[in-house]
Amino acid sequence: MFKSSVVESELAIGDVAGRSGVAPSAIRFYEAQGLIAAQRTSGNQRRYDRAVLRRLALIQAGRAAGIPLEQIGDALDTLPAGRKPTRRDWERFSRAWRKDIDRRIATLQAIRDRMTTCIGCGCLSIDKCELLNPDDEAAAAGPGAHYLERESRRARNATKV
Ligand code: FES
Repeated sequence: MFKSSVVESELAIGDVAGRSGVAPSAIRFYEAQGLIAAQRTSGNQRRYDRAVLRRLALIQAGRAAGIPLEQIGDALDTLPAGRKPTRRDWERFSRAWRKDIDRRIATLQAIRDRMTTCIGCGCLSIDKCELLNPDDEAAAAGPGAHYLERESRRARNATKV
């Protein structure tokens, strides 16, 4: 259960972990990666501004959406360091991710839709393989499931503006 720290606007790492659901080790890792920042008390304990909870939620959301941590960090870097982000800041931030998330959704849908038919992987085990990949013609393109990759590329390109 989350409890407020002594100083309401600043949270100890246990408070942040309790409220965000992110393990203290992960919080320290994100701090080491520069995704979040902490102040130190005279006793060298971490204290986080309450706004760190929103950053952590977005880091978790980004990771769940498959966005690489480096890219999440790039987006977070656009937020102001010296003041709390405004709604406008967050809107600008979310625009940076929207296209990438749309591309990922399109790719996942393309993969899902292609799973029941021949993907050009060379197995020749589906009834449609004979029609779509006779004698494993797809092997001429090199290693990989070519039809699946082609659909994924198409989906990504379709979402590019
Ligand atoms: S599904 Fe593997 S070659 Fe068709």
